[in-house]
Amino acid sequence: MASVVVVGTQWGDEGKGKVVDLLTNYADCIVRFQGGNNAGHTLVVNGKKYVFHIIPSGILYEDKTCMIGNGVIIDPGVLLQEMDELNGKGLPVTPGRLLISENAHLIMPYHQMLDHAREASLSRGKKIGTTGRGIGPCYMDKVGRVGIKAGDFLDTDQFLAKLQTNVEEKNFFLTKQYGAEPASFAAIKEQFAGFAEKLAPFIGNVSVELDKARRGGKNILFEGAQGTQLDIDHGTYPFVTSSNTIAGNACIGSGFGPAHIDEVIGILKAYTTRVGEGPFPSELPEGDKVGDELQKKGGEFGATTGRRRRCGWLDMVVANDAVRLNGLTGLAITKLDVLSGQPKLQIGRKYSVEGEVFDCMPSNIRKTALAEPVYEEVEGWQEDITGVRDLADLPQKARDYVRRIEDISGIAPVIISVGPDREETLLLRNPFEK
Ligand code: GDP
Ligand code: IMO
Ligand code: MG
Repeated sequence: MASVVVVGTQWGDEGKGKVVDLLTNYADCIVRFQGGNNAGHTLVVNGKKYVFHIIPSGILYEDKTCMIGNGVIIDPGVLLQEMDELNGKGLPVTPGRLLISENAHLIMPYHQMLDHAREASLSRGKKIGTTGRGIGPCYMDKVGRVGIKAGDFLDTDQFLAKLQTNVEEKNFFLTKQYGAEPASFAAIKEQFAGFAEKLAPFIGNVSVELDKARRGGKNILFEGAQGTQLDIDHGTYPFVTSSNTIAGNACIGSGFGPAHIDEVIGILKAYTTRVGEGPFPSELPEGDKVGDELQKKGGEFGATTGRRRRCGWLDMVVANDAVRLNGLTGLAITKLDVLSGQPKLQIGRKYSVEGEVFDCMPSNIRKTALAEPVYEEVEGWQEDITGVRDLADLPQKARDYVRRIEDISGIAPVIISVGPDREETLLLRNPFEK
């Protein structure tokens, strides 16, 4: 029995969906603990592609329990749509297969309206480039102690009282501050009554169920969303998301004790991408030959918004920040196949900022924006590696690249991913097996 946390080590889209899907094979419960439908986790099973924004990726296995923890924020319309799509594919999502924490906060229509209005009001250079899903405003209400929780769906009077107060307050900001249209109490009331009826059977106490699972000897897998550099406290603030994305939040965001976590696996894309605004030291700007090749070959378009992902070299300053912040015990190196064909590869080792040397991300965003990576050059490999299933069959230069990552980070890889499909994987060590 083990509890394993999977987190992104970079700026999201590292391949968490694929790795979680793979590890789900060995897990009994799969738990999301933060973020909302800003996430887009892609899985490819037997050539068939699935994208999940809110339901844990493990839902494709019929005999597993998926849980949405208290740290997640839920757009009920999006959740129901995802459930409908799965039902349509012959994978009915029943209350036995999905449990939603009563303490998870709800993303309301006015959160999305505020997200859009605020972004539109910001000048160039100040925009965050959010996903527009209402993430920031919803988490603001949570910490502001005025949020509406999934559990409020089970108590109509409380739900409506909170809704009334919130709509009044948000409409003040929407109309007076941003000159936007107001939200309609009546429309939300009606729409959400339908949502409440459908979701009520799924709502319960995730912390209690997780504790039962742990005591019952079950394997538990925590699925992170976003990535370490998007963490609200430790990322490239303010160009971050509004939740803690690092492993410590697996406990807070689900109601699980930290002493019960056995392994923390960091997903590290073999190069780096970022979607949205904000500093990205190892970026290869649009028009750069290698950057454009990585973007094209890696299919680097956002799974949530369809935006082009910015691409760059592997940055071990970012990776080592992730090792420290998450307490990583293993790495899953993804998209190694995308680097095939590059004659030389660059690995970012430290930053130079106005003559100062950094070997972790500067906390001052002005400095981060000026950070120039100091690179180490290594040889690339030319072979297609998507068919490789054993470490010994990887071209020597690909093995050297993986070894260099291990040497610099001090963390051994447990998984190497060489293609999007579940099968296109080298499982070097199963983190559920002690
Ligand atoms: P997540 O947000 O971390 O789950 O990642 P996304 O799903 O947003 O983006 C990762 C993309 O890369 C998806 O389209 C995956 O299907 C794909 N992918 C995952 N692992 C690999 C890999 O090893 N090689 C290739 N070529 N694609 C991969
Ligand atoms: P997954 O789980 C990549 C980025 C947005 C924006 C910033 C804030 O698929 O890795 P938000 O809407 O959260 O307020 O946007 O965070 N962002 C992501 N980037 N992958 C994600 O999720 C992301 N979720 C948010 O692009 O820059
Ligand atoms: Mg994604």
